[in-house]
Amino acid sequence: MDKTKIAVLVSGGGTNLQALIDAQKSGVLHSGEIALVISNNAIAYALTRAAEAGIPALTITKKDCGSQEAFEDALIRALDDHCIELIVLAGFMSILSERFTHHFEKRIINVHPSLIPSFCGKGFYGLKVHEAALAYGVKVTGATVHFVNEIPDGGQIILQKAVSVLPGDTPKTLQKRVMERAEWIILPEAAELVSSRIKKEKEYRQ
Ligand code: GAR
Repeated sequence: MDKTKIAVLVSGGGTNLQALIDAQKSGVLHSGEIALVISNNAIAYALTRAAEAGIPALTITKKDCGSQEAFEDALIRALDDHCIELIVLAGFMSILSERFTHHFEKRIINVHPSLIPSFCGKGFYGLKVHEAALAYGVKVTGATVHFVNEIPDGGQIILQKAVSVLPGDTPKTLQKRVMERAEWIILPEAAELVSSRIKKEKEYRQ
């Protein structure tokens, strides 16, 4: 049976995309294959990572499309053209509408750099999440991979991993530790779990 076809949606540096590419090479991710990368930012370094790994990549921006609806229509067209079965949001800094999330119910996963339900939802992204965790004074934070529904960071949790906050941490040192010790580990693991479930469903239907 064919592997689950994965699209990774990115906006920036793409270290989580790199973790997925590396997991595919090492075999941690073996039930799915990264078939497409889509960036909503033409100068995202993630596009270079995709090119170096020989993965087809596209840039689709809301600005070029003119509206959220047209942007999501263009995303859906590209995903359908590549027969994508699982969408991984890996640092994708755009909130998707209910129309989009319903279209791909239980087929979109996201990595978020905190232990949901802390420091999540609208306005909590990237470094801001770690700034908020340090301002609150938590001693433990981490990362979460969850299914994506119409509520920002509100879908069912798939995996979480805790990471200690250390004295003297800055948002940047904390972000780096959360990435290295949590995100880059649980995102590939969750992608494998969901890819394997989708692959088994296909086998069952045949
Ligand atoms: C990651 O820390 C990811 O968890 C976060 O943005 C960073 C992207 O880094 N995503 C969010 O905050 C989404 N709410 P990357 O481009 O190097 O993977």
